[in-house]
Amino acid sequence: MVVNSDAIITVENLVKKYDGHTAVDGVSFEIERGEIFGLLGPNGAGKSTIISILCSLLKPTRGRVNIDGFDLITNTNDIKKIIGVVPQEISLYPTLTAKENLEFYGKIYGLSGKTLKSKVEVLLDMVGLTERADDLLEGFSGGMKRRINIAAALLHRPRILFLDEPSTGVDPQSRRRIYDTIHDLNQEGMTVILTTHQMEDAEKLCHRIAIVDKGKLIALDTLEGLLKMVGENDIIHIAAPEILTEPVKSIQQMSNVRKVSMDEGNMTIQLVHARESLAGIIETLISSGTKVESINIKEPDLETLFLHLTGSKLRG
Ligand SMILES: Nc1ncnc2c1ncn2[C@@H]1O[C@H](COP(=O)(O)OP(=O)(O)OP(=O)(O)O)[C@@H](O)[C@H]1O
Ligand SMILES: [Mg+2]
Repeated sequence: MVVNSDAIITVENLVKKYDGHTAVDGVSFEIERGEIFGLLGPNGAGKSTIISILCSLLKPTRGRVNIDGFDLITNTNDIKKIIGVVPQEISLYPTLTAKENLEFYGKIYGLSGKTLKSKVEVLLDMVGLTERADDLLEGFSGGMKRRINIAAALLHRPRILFLDEPSTGVDPQSRRRIYDTIHDLNQEGMTVILTTHQMEDAEKLCHRIAIVDKGKLIALDTLEGLLKMVGENDIIHIAAPEILTEPVKSIQQMSNVRKVSMDEGNMTIQLVHARESLAGIIETLISSGTKVESINIKEPDLETLFLHLTGSKLRG
């Protein structure tokens, strides 16, 4: 296999079958050193299966994976030393405190004494839970548990961090904290790979996004590059009880406007840079005496792209 020198992970023709059902269907991609890479797709797309194979938790049916120079099948132990894994299911002990959970995992990694103590303190601070260090896990929210799970995956200073659905079932405050933690780790040079079915994770966190559907990789690019695939058109919907033909004509002649369609009390305008033109459009309508009831702007997002590529919605 030809390994790109900037790539920290190379995946070639990955296939995973469960009892004849193909969950991953010939997927190839590369992850650059130092990037935050997202696998985005709906439930059952194959995201957890792909990430579990990359973490050596699951054996592929076919295909090759190279992680920082190590082959997934022949160098599993070397790989385990350089990766941290935050699974989709929380794997912590409810009857131990946050600190005790982290100490338990630290000991598995061979840490002890002062090193372990200070490491646990630093990580609790990083995920914003220093004040809850001595509370039992069973009293924690889903978001707090996930933050402890992230801390547990960092005890051995991994070079690469895998997170399976880091923000699912997480309150907004924890989500922000998780975003900050991932961002800070990446700034320190860590390569991060995450799966998500939430557009927000992909949009706010990832340098590049791979869109996965039915076991196949259907697009891979930066957010900007992916959105270009949908085209540049924004859409403005305006509801008004009555719209006269005169303002419609004026709006049609505006330079950013591509198309205006009318359907009873609804006006739909396809245009580029909707926000720039909005004031002019409203002014035109109001000065002609139109009573505008509501205005809605839709800019292309990953949901629009997914619909464009697959014909179905990202959210089920
Ligand atoms: N252990 C298993 N045995 C049999 N089939 C499985 C197993 N694990 C996953 N699958 C199937 O493989 C497909 C991909 O599952 P996977 O968990 O990788 O999807 P996902 O994209 O992570 O979904 P989600 O967003 O729900 O986490 C699904 O059809 C699922 O039912
Ligand atoms: Mg999953």
